[in-house]
Amino acid sequence: MRSPLEARRDTGQQELRPWKTCAFTELTAARSRLLRMLEGLPEDALTRQHSPLMSPIVWDVAHLANYEEQWLLRALGAPALTDSSVDSLYDAFRHPRASRSQLPLLSPEQAFAYASRVRAASLEWLHQLPEDSSAPLLRGGFVFGMVAQHEQQHLETLAATLQLMTSHAYRPAALARPRPARAAQHEVFLPGGPVRLGSDAPWAYDNERPAHSVHVPDFLLDSHPVTNGDFAVFVDSGGYDDARWWDPQGFEWIHAQGIRHPLFWLPQQGGWWRRRFGWVEPLPRDEPVQHVCWYEADAYARWAGKRLPTEAEWEKAATGSDGQPRGYPWGDTAPGPAHANLGGDTWGPSPIGGYPAGQSADGIWGLLGDVWEWTSSTFDGYFGFKPFPYREYSEVFFGTEYRVLRGGAWASAPVAVRNSFRNWDYPIRRQIFAGFRCARDAR
Ligand SMILES: [Fe+2]
Repeated sequence: MRSPLEARRDTGQQELRPWKTCAFTELTAARSRLLRMLEGLPEDALTRQHSPLMSPIVWDVAHLANYEEQWLLRALGAPALTDSSVDSLYDAFRHPRASRSQLPLLSPEQAFAYASRVRAASLEWLHQLPEDSSAPLLRGGFVFGMVAQHEQQHLETLAATLQLMTSHAYRPAALARPRPARAAQHEVFLPGGPVRLGSDAPWAYDNERPAHSVHVPDFLLDSHPVTNGDFAVFVDSGGYDDARWWDPQGFEWIHAQGIRHPLFWLPQQGGWWRRRFGWVEPLPRDEPVQHVCWYEADAYARWAGKRLPTEAEWEKAATGSDGQPRGYPWGDTAPGPAHANLGGDTWGPSPIGGYPAGQSADGIWGLLGDVWEWTSSTFDGYFGFKPFPYREYSEVFFGTEYRVLRGGAWASAPVAVRNSFRNWDYPIRRQIFAGFRCARDAR
């Protein structure tokens, strides 16, 4: 199913498909993934706080239902389903994650029933809405795209919660991953010039808008993300003890926290192993490193004589240096299994070089999927930014506190991944599925 994201109205390259069909497909895909992920988990696993960094799983389930009720029902004038008394419990801004298990939350049974009632009502409402409304929330089906992406983004967060969970074993059946195509890391030269950043596609978020042009000088970018094997050399050569490579704040922080290697790595039997959900396994050296914070990525890059790319450089690499507008590195076709490791069912990154069909026009691999890629950029609005449909989606996070991540991870859904998609997080965050690739000035 093609989504409106690839129906690139702004480029005029693709015909816009009816958004109601896309909305139905994406909402249904998100819900079946939610049920698949949580199937069989006992009540205690659903209600327990697995980490102060994460919500109890049952909070996420009811929050998804409440968000959907607010945006697909109440905001669109649908008949009332519940009153708004439950809203404050599931307001992410009102209750920090670490305190959510203390709230009088719905039980798992009530939360799943709430989610299913809201979904039935919003699909019914979807059928009744006009296809061609000019209301800002409905233009191109925006608000349905927003809710489908929101649900998938929470499912990625739930995957991080399940990875942090130690009270119960979680061993989903992982799909076989593609074999690497004898990938070798090398640098790709990207010539300087104007780059089109952002998107005006119907389901793009406010922080991606408006599409605009910026100048990026010549630079070199790694053809693949940094692998576990690459990163282990940095760790084993004392990289975590050498202040020369680190941002001073980061160096102080990793030492205060006793951090000596990426999260979930285990020194065992004279080498490196890792815990991935319910498995403990030798560290695969050819997979992109994940669970490193921005400080660790930045330090590695400096040690390697390189740096992290800016987000403009990253987007230029994803779009291609030939100036052709592309929604994805390979073109405008929606991501499929041949393009990138996305959607969550592999339960981990793939070895580099597994997706030749996902290469960019300049021969850069793995830009979408596998791991989010930290950039050197802080998160801010583009020139002409307008908050839509609410300030708390993006605008309240603008400033120097957060670093931008690009590209999406194995746990990200195709609907929530594109060249222009911007993610952001604190530079100390390690539980997210983030890695990086290095860049260098071209001299
Ligand atoms: Fe949310």
